[in-house]
Amino acid sequence: MKFLVINGPNINLLGIREPEIYGREDYAELCRRVNARAAELGTEVEIFQSNHEGDIVDKIQSAYGKADGIIINPAAYTHTSVAIRDALAAVGIPAVEVHISDVNSREGFRKLNYISEVCLGSVNGRGIKGYTEAMDMLFAELNGGKTL
Ligand code: DQA
Repeated sequence: MKFLVINGPNINLLGIREPEIYGREDYAELCRRVNARAAELGTEVEIFQSNHEGDIVDKIQSAYGKADGIIINPAAYTHTSVAIRDALAAVGIPAVEVHISDVNSREGFRKLNYISEVCLGSVNGRGIKGYTEAMDMLFAELNGGKTL
């Protein structure tokens, strides 16, 4: 089983950016946790981050026929990007959306979400452990409901 983890703009600045919202753990720690959970689940994982919408669309397209599941935090593009939504719908790879913060209890503009509808689940406001929870969700989904 192969997972692709995609992070959008400014997620590379974890630990620096608004730590009261996004926590003090940095991007390297996020990658470490994702890799550790993949090893426990016995899955392969690739982690990708970009600040550019088109690069994220290209990455989703390139996963077609290769990745079994996508974990995506589109960051600010969640609230703006029809292109990322359409790419996820186009490839049809089961996807789970992650937000480190609880987007529904923040500014009004964050309630507009183009991504949720094309994902089988969302993990919101769980900090960076939301990524490993999303991996577990996807693993169970692809494994006929069986967890580790
Ligand atoms: C975010 C929430 C978005 O609204 C914001 O633009 C981000 C990060 C989160 O992980 O909580 O950059 O996706």
